Amino acid sequence: MNQVYEKLMKCYESVKEKIDFKPEIALILGSGLGDYGDSIQIEATLDYKEIEGFPVSTVKGHKGRFIFGYVDGVPVVCMQGRVHYYEGYPMTDVVLPTRLMKLMGAKVLFLTNAAGGVNYNFSAGDLMMITDQIASFIPNPLIGENIEELGTRFPDMSEIYDKELREVLRKSAEELGVKLQEGTYLQLTGPSFESPHEVRMCRILGADAVGMSTANEAIAANHMGMKICGISCISNLGCGMSDEPLSHEEVQETADRVAGQFKELVSRAIVEIHKIL
Ligand code: HPA
Repeated sequence: MNQVYEKLMKCYESVKEKIDFKPEIALILGSGLGDYGDSIQIEATLDYKEIEGFPVSTVKGHKGRFIFGYVDGVPVVCMQGRVHYYEGYPMTDVVLPTRLMKLMGAKVLFLTNAAGGVNYNFSAGDLMMITDQIASFIPNPLIGENIEELGTRFPDMSEIYDKELREVLRKSAEELGVKLQEGTYLQLTGPSFESPHEVRMCRILGADAVGMSTANEAIAANHMGMKICGISCISNLGCGMSDEPLSHEEVQETADRVAGQFKELVSRAIVEIHKIL
């Protein structure tokens, strides 16, 4: 058997032994949504380290566990702490949790992150619905022998972020009175923030936000046929766009400041998405 698939199935068996819960929506929590667990009626949690062979996240402020439970009656699985490529894991490990959540039963992947704004119309603290992505600067997680059990060799990417789900996010934000920007997310490897000219490059390429996650997970989920939506918290403007140097603390502070409305929007959207599944 393909080694990547074998590892995935081993993790899946390990989860199944411990948890009997079928989520419909999978949620990956980025910076600022770390305590979204408080908004979930928790049925069970599973620390990543309890899953045999699972890549364990090392970023400060990121907990490493799955939360299983209900958001207003909708069964969800939530990753509290994601795995980043810059931590040194192979890309196939970075997307393993995403694949695992699909195997658990999730049909929808709801991605969240903190990102730098490269669009001059954005401000720190804005929320941005991801409409498309640029992943050309990271290794594609599908490189290697194709795992036919998961998806096709050359998956179509014409609509990674589902049109219907985007409409739901737009409407949910409107109903809540939450301002929602829209744009393209570009993933770089990190962990260093961009130089001013890299930020300029991102803008010239058509990106609105830049970050160090998400696009890789979206590729793996799209490969498996999941419906995907995503929201970035614009925690700062890209390097060189303001006079301030960037720090992880600033990213966290801004993310924490808008966490309230971010959580509200995510919860509302989950309920509305579930209605159309
Ligand atoms: N660049 C890359 N990743 C980020 C940023 C940024 O400015 N802010 C939060 N994550």
